Amino acid sequence: MRRQLKIPPADCQLCERLARFRQDNRRLYPEWFNAPVPAFSGARTRLLIVGLAPGLKGANKTGRPFTGDYAGDLLYAALLRFGFASGAYKARLDDSLELIDCSITNAVRCVPPKNKPVAAEINMCRRFLSAEIAHHKHLRAILALGRISHDSLISAFGLRRTDFSFSHGANHRLSRDITLFDSYHCSRYNTNTRRLREDMFMQVFCQIRSFLSG
Ligand code: URA
Repeated sequence: MRRQLKIPPADCQLCERLARFRQDNRRLYPEWFNAPVPAFSGARTRLLIVGLAPGLKGANKTGRPFTGDYAGDLLYAALLRFGFASGAYKARLDDSLELIDCSITNAVRCVPPKNKPVAAEINMCRRFLSAEIAHHKHLRAILALGRISHDSLISAFGLRRTDFSFSHGANHRLSRDITLFDSYHCSRYNTNTRRLREDMFMQVFCQIRSFLSG
């Protein structure tokens, strides 16, 4: 029998600062999701995408990773273009978007103040990232969006960060079955400063698609 996936409770208290921020947001925005954002999954998953943490007015509001966040526009466009999603992305939970062979989660499940989780929060939340990885029996590729997510994944696999440095466009063998792909995060800051251009992001998905077809 398949084991139940370990997820944080809606009132997770593991990180004091994030729990306090959640309480504040519940008071300010009672209509919003305001809880640890669960992974968004297709029926089977060979590709897992790992972002940083929910955005305050995006994933933390809607309850689905990258949904309503600026970064979601580019991410979901790439997934649709490369056949990892179908339907339409409308930045709302009730759009018709479905993932195909792919899941999306975050290194940290709760929205952090100023979009910046601290090291202790990233380390604390890794138990849920590890559980998500273990849950996907067909997993072959992981895409880390940004260095923080890359580093947390390296630790989740019990590897040494000094042996696997983050570099946009690089890939790293993490285990017999699983390869990690690195991309700069598709954040507003990275796209506005042109650190990440659309073609650079699409190129990473092109690599992943050909890896999975190989
Ligand atoms: N940025 C992330 O890294 N994750 C989200 O869910 C939203 C924005």
